[in-house]
Amino acid sequence: HPKNLLRAIIEDGEHLEKLTNKHIFSSDQFDRDTLLQLFRLAAKYEANPDRFSSSLQGKILISAFYEPSTRTRLSFESAWHRLGGDIMSITDRSTTGIAKGESLADVGEMFNNYGDCVVLRDSNEHSVREMMGALRIPIINAGNGTDEHPTQALADLYTILKWRPNLISDDNPDPINICIVGLPSKMRTVRSLIKLFCIFPEMIGRLTIVNDNPDEQMFDEEQREQVEEAGLNVVLRHELDPELPQADVVYINAIAWEGDSFNAYGKVFHLNAASPLKSDAIVLHPLARGEELCTSLDDTSHNWYFAQARGAVFLRQALLTCLVRRAERVLDII
Ligand code: CP
Repeated sequence: HPKNLLRAIIEDGEHLEKLTNKHIFSSDQFDRDTLLQLFRLAAKYEANPDRFSSSLQGKILISAFYEPSTRTRLSFESAWHRLGGDIMSITDRSTTGIAKGESLADVGEMFNNYGDCVVLRDSNEHSVREMMGALRIPIINAGNGTDEHPTQALADLYTILKWRPNLISDDNPDPINICIVGLPSKMRTVRSLIKLFCIFPEMIGRLTIVNDNPDEQMFDEEQREQVEEAGLNVVLRHELDPELPQADVVYINAIAWEGDSFNAYGKVFHLNAASPLKSDAIVLHPLARGEELCTSLDDTSHNWYFAQARGAVFLRQALLTCLVRRAERVLDII
């Protein structure tokens, strides 16, 4: 329950103030204290899911998704609505000046006039930074090619901490083993999540990465340096089932966006209700799922992937609250 996480973190709102009007493009930007306070605020929202506020009344979100999305776009929009704001949504870049060759910098300059925050998903990993250069309102990277998806990673870690709030206690006696089925060098969700794990190395006993193809490079150079510097105990494997009996968290994903389409990796791996999971292990998946995650797991206690998607609404509510200044009371000004 989110209240257990709420109780585990002492409130210190000062850490959240530094997020005001900031662009969010990478998991690297966060530090431990800011993350904990963000999770605390998300848990507060989640503990009262039916309570809507008006803190962003009079504010407009520009939701620009130039690549398909179910969860990220709709959970950001749901979060914004729950905060009382209005939304302009672009789901096809060909309906904008981009189709006539307009630069993202020029589009960004226009966005300054129309809204108070931008959420951008684009297959081109450079787009978010191109637009960022022209923006005076905050932009959130909602997935840029094979690079990053930081708010997905925030939602993933938030889920893990709701499951085991004691992981953040100063004398955590019980680090967990995490098994990631996927390719960190090509999967943006995995890349962003491992960056967050590097901020909390003490909670991880072992991080196992499983990929079927020995010829694929699991880590790029920057990732390798980052996990080494953080002191994460990482092991690389090419078979899944022998790893499952030791894993407390299994994070599985098969899709990587590359260019304008996606590729599936690790097609040989499947998780289902008969997989040799620990009895109390949880399974996470950023979704959308393919054959790697069987629906037979949906009705088991291993299914935390639906809670992961649900919690993302509250996590995004917390982040948006911190990024966007509370609306001035327009009527008072008039
Ligand atoms: N997890 C995630 O990014 O899902 P969508 O592609 O549906 O947004």
